[in-house]
Amino acid sequence: MGDEVKFLRPDAIVEPLVDGFYAWLHMVAPVQAAMNLAFAHVPLLESYLQSPMVHINASRNPALRGGYFVSIEEDRSEEVRDLLAAIKRDRTELLDFAAAVAEAEELVRTTATGFDLTPLYAKLPPALSGLVEIAYDTSNQPAIRFIEPLVYQSSIYSEDRQSVQLSLETGVERPFVLSTPRLSSPDVLDLRIPFRHPGLEELFRSRVHGTTLNRLREMLELSDDEAAALSQLLADQPDLYGSRHIDDGARIRYFGHACLVLQTPQAAIITDPWVSADTSASGRFTYRDLPDYLDLALITHGHQDHVVPETLLALRGRVGTIVVPRPSRGNMADPSLALYLSHLGLPVVEVDDFSEVEFPGGTVIATPFLGEHADLDIRAKSTYCVKFGGRTIFVGGDSSGIDPGLYRYMRGHVGPVDMAFLGMECAGAPLTWLYQGLFTAPVTKKMSDSRTLSGSNAEQAAAIMTELGAREAYVYAMGEESWLGHVMATTYNEDSYQLKQVAEFMTWCADHGIKSDHLLGQHEWRW
Ligand SMILES: [Fe+2]
Ligand SMILES: [Fe+2]
Repeated sequence: MGDEVKFLRPDAIVEPLVDGFYAWLHMVAPVQAAMNLAFAHVPLLESYLQSPMVHINASRNPALRGGYFVSIEEDRSEEVRDLLAAIKRDRTELLDFAAAVAEAEELVRTTATGFDLTPLYAKLPPALSGLVEIAYDTSNQPAIRFIEPLVYQSSIYSEDRQSVQLSLETGVERPFVLSTPRLSSPDVLDLRIPFRHPGLEELFRSRVHGTTLNRLREMLELSDDEAAALSQLLADQPDLYGSRHIDDGARIRYFGHACLVLQTPQAAIITDPWVSADTSASGRFTYRDLPDYLDLALITHGHQDHVVPETLLALRGRVGTIVVPRPSRGNMADPSLALYLSHLGLPVVEVDDFSEVEFPGGTVIATPFLGEHADLDIRAKSTYCVKFGGRTIFVGGDSSGIDPGLYRYMRGHVGPVDMAFLGMECAGAPLTWLYQGLFTAPVTKKMSDSRTLSGSNAEQAAAIMTELGAREAYVYAMGEESWLGHVMATTYNEDSYQLKQVAEFMTWCADHGIKSDHLLGQHEWRW
């Protein structure tokens, strides 16, 4: 018993968690994780415990979708109380670190006035010793720079916080990941193991390469009950479609949101990996359609809908290299994607603007990404031009056309583009929606509302097309697919500004002889 070859079911899902919260970039990268825990999640849980019904009712109100409300029924509020107590008891070092960062930033704001910074080091809170440098820019504006690899090596980065929840996709929308911690439940298998655990690689490889329950049990050190729960996620045969590979030519498949799979018989590339596990639904590609091996995964930027930890963990053992843009190295708003993903046990390479990465039969050129980050100094963002199958594909992510001149330079470097994939979430969330925990100085609502996470509107998207000289335009990354709600929490209707802008852009494309489409669900191009 337990030695038969087994395969992970395509509808198995994993939610990686830190102290119960979804492990997106800013909950794992240690400086940002400390700030979010102290200044976003602890206050959020305290607010819930003061009046659970306010949170529950707000979570049910479509008009408040995407707000920071804890969607946990009142009869489970004692479990939330226990979670908060455990955080306050076990994470004092993180909470103290966040307080030290706030204190240091205040110190720098008030005393770094263009003169010698040497005396400030003695005044820094001891928790920051050895982990930061203070520097001016050439306008004499001071800032603290974190030496991020050292913070990962320090006790601020604790794998004790990490766990994974494994379950089967039900098709029912999960609670919003940025605001609702995950509690235990009989339907999920909780494993308190670090994300880089080799047993997770064995598990996720087994969608393609069979394993045995005994091997998983040994690697993951499972109890009898845990092994029985895990066996529910396994099947006797691999459940994969033969059409996941091609024998000739080239193909692009749209898997939803910003996830594309570019293929030839020799190679496969995935962009901003996010794959649905709901095999009971129609009109979408799922893990059944994913090629067995992905030579490259291209990440455009660190927003939680583009670096999706539940899919990235599921690629463990199936991806050659994850290509990520290099950050500014130390700016608090700009954590390293490479450090984050390597701590998830994934192979990573960093690229700068115009770095090239070869793959069998093609080349990826990293190209600049403009805006969409609430005017924060975030450099860990890149678009990509992929040359393969005789075509040049522009993978635009959420990069905006705020200054179309950029795309003229890009064309000068990479040549004309055949197919451009453009994000047009042009009424994005305000600054504080994603970054509130990082701010140690007040941000007014007016300031926050003026600085949004917005991609291109119609005029900007048209300007990008003109400058790139592209012949085909595909609008993607709009968060419209129904299965993205737990991460996107978007609410579109026919009056939504974004959708009207997409329609306006497509009219412009038609008027200018450019083929265009607004992608939703699944799509395929074959040549
Ligand atoms: Fe984004
Ligand atoms: Fe996005």
